[in-house]
Amino acid sequence: MSVPLVDFQRLPAEQTQAIREAVLRVLEHKRFILGEEVAAFEAALGQRLGGVHCVGVSSGTDALLLALQACDVQRGDSVVTTPYSFFATVGAVLRLGARPIFVDIDASDFGMDLRAADLRHCAAARALLPVHLFGGCLNLGPWQHALPNLPIVEDAAQALDSRDAEGHFAGTRGRIGCFSFFPTKNLGAAGDAGMVVTRDAALAGRLRRLRIHGQSAPYEHSEIGGNFRMDTLQAAVLLASLPFLDAAQAQRHANARRYAALFAAAGVEGRVVLPRIEDGVGGGARHTVHQFVVRIPERRDAVLAGLKRAGIGAAVYYPLPLSLQPCCAFLGHKAGDFPVAERMAREVLALPIAPGLRESEQAEVVAAISKLL
Ligand SMILES: Cc1ncc(COP(=O)(O)O)c(C=O)c1O
Repeated sequence: MSVPLVDFQRLPAEQTQAIREAVLRVLEHKRFILGEEVAAFEAALGQRLGGVHCVGVSSGTDALLLALQACDVQRGDSVVTTPYSFFATVGAVLRLGARPIFVDIDASDFGMDLRAADLRHCAAARALLPVHLFGGCLNLGPWQHALPNLPIVEDAAQALDSRDAEGHFAGTRGRIGCFSFFPTKNLGAAGDAGMVVTRDAALAGRLRRLRIHGQSAPYEHSEIGGNFRMDTLQAAVLLASLPFLDAAQAQRHANARRYAALFAAAGVEGRVVLPRIEDGVGGGARHTVHQFVVRIPERRDAVLAGLKRAGIGAAVYYPLPLSLQPCCAFLGHKAGDFPVAERMAREVLALPIAPGLRESEQAEVVAAISKLL
């Protein structure tokens, strides 16, 4: 039996129907650019995230670019960020002509480790760009305390609805939060879409202007922005999908609990290190399990190859730290500079977790890994 990493065909029939109706409504009213669904989705998400201003954009990548631009990151500036993320994080910094200052990560939450930061060097940067990976939510309080003058742009592309232990939603604690609705995300569009969020109304206004070429009045441009608009069709899909998000998250948590029980029974403790997944029930931190990432300290690649042979979907997020990407060679980093990030790149393995995953499939994944080890 093969087990897919993600299978879009398993979307609940009710949700597919709601999406179909929403898309048809847009095809009828034909306001394809910034139609009313964009504002309606922005309002719904803003309310869900505790009353933030939301600006719908074309992708999570563009959300990052726009957010850094709105923090006035310019050529020659530096931005403190992680060497362990999807490329878009550092790509946004580099596209603005800025330089990343990488800080090695903490293996417990994959976030930048404050103890590894050179704070004097970091304090001279223009912004701080932490990443909430895999559905976890970092505690940014100590960073705000250590670097009080640095605006924080949160890359929360993978962490919609996640909360830290103090109840802050990922993306809402810093100056600007950035989200992605890439189809595989917990809330996925039918294509590319993203969101920038902020508590600052004036900043939200600037983000809205930057979204349409920095336009301050029709055909008058106060600064240089771009075409970063969210499509009405994508907003309609997202708005229709939003009511189904809680049930989907509950399934991710149930799947994570089942993996914990199956791995415990398999007796592979130490050879498979499980993630810490808080479900937020009764308050406290909430991990939204965007990815279920285990660590396999020995023979990860052999396990991955074996799973592939067995038709089981698994993936490595991320095999090469950003510091060692070919296009970052000019920064002069070498292997060994960020040892924890480099070790994670060798050990991590994401397993199928999406809603719709069957109990028998999870049992098969765990049995296959145990056998391969
Ligand atoms: C951590 C992180 N940042 C940024 C992005 C970019 O988002 P998008 O694919 O919507 O451009 C992603 C997305 O996949 C991501 O995982």
